[in-house]
Amino acid sequence: MKFYITTPIYYVNSDPHVGSAYTTIVADIIARYKRMMGYDVFFLTGTDEHGQKILQAASAVGKDPQSFCDELAGRFKNLWNRLGITNDGFIRTTDEDHMKVVQYFVKKMLENGDIYKGVYKGWYCVPCETYWNEDEIGSDKLCPSCGRELRYISEENYFFRLSKYTDVLLEHYRNHPEFVQPDFRRNEMLKILEGGLKDLSITRTTFKWGVPMPDDPEHVIYVWVDALINYVSAIGYPFNMERFNRYWPADLHLIGKEINRFHSIVWPAMLISVGLPLPKVVFAHGWLTVDGQKISKSLGNAIDPTYFVEKYGNDVLRFYLLRDINFGKDGDFSEKNLVNRLNSDLANDYGNLLHRTLAMVEKHYSSILPAPEKYDEIDEKFKEDVMIRVKEYEKLMDEYSLTQAVEKILEILMLSNKYFDEKRPWVLAKQKDYSALSTVLYNVCEALLKVAIMFSPIMPDSSKEVLTRLGFDSKLTKDFLDNWGVLKSSVKTVHGKPLFEKKELSFEKKESELKVDNLIEIDEFKKVELRTARVISAERVPKSDKLLKLILDVGELGQRQIVAGIAKYYEPENLVGKTIIIVANLKPAKLMGVESQGMLLAAKDGVNLRVLTVDGNIAPGATIS
Ligand code: MSP
Repeated sequence: MKFYITTPIYYVNSDPHVGSAYTTIVADIIARYKRMMGYDVFFLTGTDEHGQKILQAASAVGKDPQSFCDELAGRFKNLWNRLGITNDGFIRTTDEDHMKVVQYFVKKMLENGDIYKGVYKGWYCVPCETYWNEDEIGSDKLCPSCGRELRYISEENYFFRLSKYTDVLLEHYRNHPEFVQPDFRRNEMLKILEGGLKDLSITRTTFKWGVPMPDDPEHVIYVWVDALINYVSAIGYPFNMERFNRYWPADLHLIGKEINRFHSIVWPAMLISVGLPLPKVVFAHGWLTVDGQKISKSLGNAIDPTYFVEKYGNDVLRFYLLRDINFGKDGDFSEKNLVNRLNSDLANDYGNLLHRTLAMVEKHYSSILPAPEKYDEIDEKFKEDVMIRVKEYEKLMDEYSLTQAVEKILEILMLSNKYFDEKRPWVLAKQKDYSALSTVLYNVCEALLKVAIMFSPIMPDSSKEVLTRLGFDSKLTKDFLDNWGVLKSSVKTVHGKPLFEKKELSFEKKESELKVDNLIEIDEFKKVELRTARVISAERVPKSDKLLKLILDVGELGQRQIVAGIAKYYEPENLVGKTIIIVANLKPAKLMGVESQGMLLAAKDGVNLRVLTVDGNIAPGATIS
């Protein structure tokens, strides 16, 4: 049994963010699950490096497009490494092998009579690399997908006879209702198909950054045609058909909803054109916002996956994404919710249960897992309830209801906590009822084993830790999930530290996170006497290009003379009348022979210097605290 899963190949015009990490993490979870269930998995991800948008991004930073792409592709690879992504392939559309396949594929479409030359007149969105028909856009000429300005283009192009495939695709949708998921995304595609398809322009002549059209290199192949072909080129089509046939058709193209039309209409039509079977499922998930806002660079750290991994660890990020964002639907990513989930679901319900169970095994059985001795009704019911959830989890995972699958794991934890509290093993221990005690402890450990196995695709690190503590070191398979009583009594368990540390969400740095040798007591700060002062006059200090001499009115402290190194930044007359801030209790000093009775405050950023002033009217000599 094989399973071929893909993510979109990401544009390299900017760094990966929480949105791209989301798709890749979810794909990784599915890939790990399928491996555990015994499939021969091929998991592909990669980068989309051609087209006008990448070319523009490279030239904006003064780089040649290839070295720009090399750098960015490297950053994607590094991030996937950091996130523990287990992809088997990483395709780049600038790989020479891929480019050859694109030409081969397009040539085949040509030979099959599906490509013709014509003139394209119409609208194009560069950020989305998408053509739009007049009837799809409003009078404002903005992109229906991203809302940015469209460009009108008119050029001789090659066209793909997409219109020819309307009926074949409709037929395929009818015969394979599972082809596009979720259902509401399938309906959107059906609407487009029922409206009839238009032919698609598939070459450009206004720039060169792409795969040249076979036998007509003035044209480069449209970036979407180039990109979609990655799904077959990466597994060997057509030069390594043995490998290709081992994995094709793809079992799952995992994508975001905005690129569904390319995957569920254009790509299948291209495949039919060259005579290849269609992917089994295209799953178009929803979009994430971050703290209620659209993902954009201005959100800084809030969209940087590395920030979350470093702060909370890989497992917590993965768990949170699956648990809190109802897979398939749009959702909001927020650090606050992540911390709540960590504290309640993971630290309380999971970590604590493991801790208190293994603590009792340690105390009453010297850490050797006891064999269950007698089952009463409650024990039997508990076992049954757990196994029902295990089955449901498998079914939900198989149909990509991932959030609901996680809920089943959490239900087992809830049931286990309830069972533990109901059975009161600490009372059983006091009563020396060891046959009942052994059963409770064994059963909770077995339930925790199931939980760790079910969690292992989602939280691989903590699952590994739990399995080790339960004395279980076999390679995970479906059998261990499907059968009760997998744990061997008499294995050595390890009680260990808390599995998940609770976190507090605080955006102010805690004292312990600050550099301690920088800290001062408030009394030390109070030693500095800050006052407002009005500038009465200002003049240059003779023979100095840096210094200005200011005469100041400091209210109750009288007049003061201050020398300040600000002559490069201020004309003296522009300072007169300003209310500035000075240190009033500084020992006098002489600068270039002129006495300075204090100093003024100014802000400096390496380029500029600005004197600090006060916001609105305030008397000279006012104290500052
Ligand atoms: N290069 C094309 C895909 C070609 S596939 C043959 C592309 N690249 S992209 O860099 O824009 O990535 C888009 C994908 O990244 C989305 O389809 C989705 O998988 C993921 N996401 C990007 N932003 C996202 C969110 N805000 N939320 C969820 N996923 C998002 O399109």
